[in-house]
Amino acid sequence: MNKNIILIGMMGAGKSSVARVLQNTMDDDFDLIDSDTIIEKKIGLSIPQIFADKGEFFFRDLEENFIKNFSGSNTILSTGGGMPFYKNNWKLLNRLGTTFFLSHSLKQLLENISKSKRPRPLFNENNFRELYEARLPLYQKADYSINCANLHQTEIARKIIKLYKA
Ligand code: S3P
Repeated sequence: MNKNIILIGMMGAGKSSVARVLQNTMDDDFDLIDSDTIIEKKIGLSIPQIFADKGEFFFRDLEENFIKNFSGSNTILSTGGGMPFYKNNWKLLNRLGTTFFLSHSLKQLLENISKSKRPRPLFNENNFRELYEARLPLYQKADYSINCANLHQTEIARKIIKLYKA
């Protein structure tokens, strides 16, 4: 049986950091994979460089390739915020394991992004609400939506573990 844990959600939702906390909190051994990191390593360019030099379509092809060839089991997979929306990725992600949407208010996401040092080529203050509202309906179709409001990452991780083990 497939036992992967897949974290989805907007940029700024804390998927990568929650994934790390989750790995440290789980009793069982889980690998940790971050799709953006794998893509960066494969191409030898950072995400902003890929967007700038090769364009978004190229990046989306890399994401599709990553997910099509993903063969992990017992893995916590932290996905790029846009991955579920392109190609056949949503179907593939759901076949690979249990999906958890890290849900935050728009205000919280903006606050997290402004504090983060990570450059995000697709972030644009002027259309972030639009992007958020367009993406929410699909995110909410995840197996579980975690309302992260006022929760510390350790509490989010504990919630995920409880649901995963239920
Ligand atoms: C993207 C989110 C980013 C990264 C890329 C595109 C998006 O990942 O994959 O910049 O379309 O929302 P994070 O969600 O980890 O920031």
